[in-house]
Formats: sequence, structure tokens, C-alpha cells
Amino acid sequence: MEHIVIPQTYREFYGEYTQPLIDAVDYVISRAEIISARCISQTGRDPIENIRYRIKSPESMSEKLKKHSLEISAENAVHKVHDAAGVRIITSFLDDIEIIAEEIKKAPDLRFIGEKNYIASPKENGYRSRHLIFEIHNVCIEVQLRTVAMDTWAAADHRILYKKLSPDSSYIARELKRCAEELARIDSTLQKLVSVYLSR
Ligand code: GTP
Ligand code: MG
Repeated sequence: MEHIVIPQTYREFYGEYTQPLIDAVDYVISRAEIISARCISQTGRDPIENIRYRIKSPESMSEKLKKHSLEISAENAVHKVHDAAGVRIITSFLDDIEIIAEEIKKAPDLRFIGEKNYIASPKENGYRSRHLIFEIHNVCIEVQLRTVAMDTWAAADHRILYKKLSPDSSYIARELKRCAEELARIDSTLQKLVSVYLSR
């Protein structure tokens, strides 16, 4: 099962690590599909709304290596940076994130390296998501877990502000943060409603 097709320039940049990166993405996707299937058979509901993935482009990876004063090489790209391979799993509700995080950590080929929990501790701008870092067959992969609401917010933030804050954007930044907080309340209310419904 191969999900991912990448341009020749990516193969040239990542060299011998290209296939391990593709395999890492495929593996995480297949584990997510197993979790989906198990949840559907146990509860009748799929906690995963959508799965997206990417290999970081050579341009974006080179920028990141430069930013960290690292030599531009495939080795540094896969060992010093944790998101050359990335899979984003979008869930319906808040609790689904915990369920999937715990299940993904049990995958036999994934060695858990660490995580950033921007749901427990949102970023200053309002960004929320859980980022789990794993090592698999000598490359790292970042698994981002977020609800549909968090994903919608991140999409807006990405288009408007991410990495290019200008001084006149304080109004936009403030409004975005307000949206993040409203969406977080909605996520939490929806979770409560669904949990109450399930317990009846
Ligand atoms: P980069 O931000 O990729 O340079 O990595 P980092 O080492 O700072 O890690 P971090 O966990 O903060 O962010 C990794 C990824 O999370 C990013 O590449 C984005 O996909 C996502 N992300 C982090 N912060 C934001 C944010 O403020 N807004 C949006 N839209 N996405 C973010
Ligand atoms: Mg960052």
C-alpha cells in the first residue's frame, strides 16, 4: 500500500532517506486506518475525519536547516529536524485525540521520541494541536493530531499570519486568538454533549 507520490527533486534532496520517509508516512497512515476500523467496529463511529500527509519540500527543509544554522544535508534533514515526514490526523472531537495518540504510540515499529502538547498549553497565538514525534527505521516522523475546529483555525492562521507577522497585524492576531478560544470552547461543549448522549 503506497499512498505517497513525490517529485524527483525531493528524491534528489533526500537521497537514500527518500524511501524510508515514504515508508514512515505509509506506516503511520496504515496504523491510523487500523485504529479507525477498530473504533468503527467497537463503537459504530469513526473518530478520524481526515488524514493528510506530506514530505517537507526541499525548499522548506533548506530554510529550516538554515534557520537552525545546520548544514543542508539529507542526514540533518531526517535526524536534526523532526518533521521531514508529517502526517496530520483530523478528529471529530477532543477525546478522539487522546484515544488516537495512545493507540498510535502502541504501533510496534514506532519509537516514541516526544511530544508537544499545544492543546494542554496552547501557543501564544492560539494554536492548538498535539504533535507526536516518532522514529521509525532511522528517520523521524511528526504526527499532528487536531480536531476539525483546530484544523480550520490553523488553516486561517496559516493563510493570514504564520511566519510572516507584520507590525500592523495586531488586530488580526487578536481576532485570530479570540477565534481560537471560541473554537476551543465549542470543542469542549461538543465533547460534553456527545459524552452525555453516549452515557444515556
Ligand atoms: P516549524 O514551525 O515547522 O519550524 O517547527 P518547530 O520545531 O517550531 O515545531 P512546532 O511543533 O512548533 O511546529 C511544527 C508544525 O506545527 C509546523 O510546521 C506547522 O505545521 C504546525 N504549527 C506550529 N505552530 C503553528 C502556528 O502557529 N500556526 C499554524 N497554522 N501551524 C503551526
Ligand atoms: Mg514552529
